[in-house]
Amino acid sequence: MTTAVTSELPNFIGDLDIAAARKVLESRHSLVTFSCDDEQKFLDAAHELGEVLLHRDSDERGITAIKEIAGEVQVGLTKQELLFHTDCPAIPAPPRWIMILCRESDGQGGETFACLGDDVVEHLRQKDPAALAALTAPEAAIFRTGPDTRICPIIELDADEAAQVRLRFDRHVHFSWDVTRHVDAILTGMRAVSWRFALTPGMGYIIDNTKWFHGRTAYRGAREASRIHVGPRAENG
Ligand SMILES: [Fe+2]
Repeated sequence: MTTAVTSELPNFIGDLDIAAARKVLESRHSLVTFSCDDEQKFLDAAHELGEVLLHRDSDERGITAIKEIAGEVQVGLTKQELLFHTDCPAIPAPPRWIMILCRESDGQGGETFACLGDDVVEHLRQKDPAALAALTAPEAAIFRTGPDTRICPIIELDADEAAQVRLRFDRHVHFSWDVTRHVDAILTGMRAVSWRFALTPGMGYIIDNTKWFHGRTAYRGAREASRIHVGPRAENG
């Protein structure tokens, strides 16, 4: 079982460098942390990694400001805890990579946590096979966002490995009865294998959104991060 709970940045590569980041992103634990003092450098790195994807909440460059927005009901834009999730689980091809750069934080919560789908599978296979069966069932969840609806496993297995993970806990999801009755065991299993770290301004991470669940603890005070979704570059332009 892989368990790493730390306040230090895991897989830290120093200044953001996509060649160095790729080595980590292509390994099993495809989460990399970095430092970057300039938003344009952050954007340039995203373009080097792949195709920058626009999002409903992003600006025309593809950058989304993740911060508290008064009156917003999306939990990611509040100060509440953001439970384990993946980004855009309802669409056919969710963003492959999520890039986050912390712009502002006064250190009162807002820690990042993340767990690898394969580690969850390995843990639950030993501790709670019924919970694992619920997560990997073909109709474990219904994700619905705008025009997109997807009925699928939360962890899609391919040869016993987590090929694709999808999850959210908000008004855009419905769970099967089997997932609902095992949700405590599922969250306990995820926490048991999760990594946890605190970003300070100028620090960030890149994560493989198809392999990792991620979240953020509640926070007080000011906090803002920039987010970019990146997909594989389209072949032949
Ligand atoms: Fe997210």
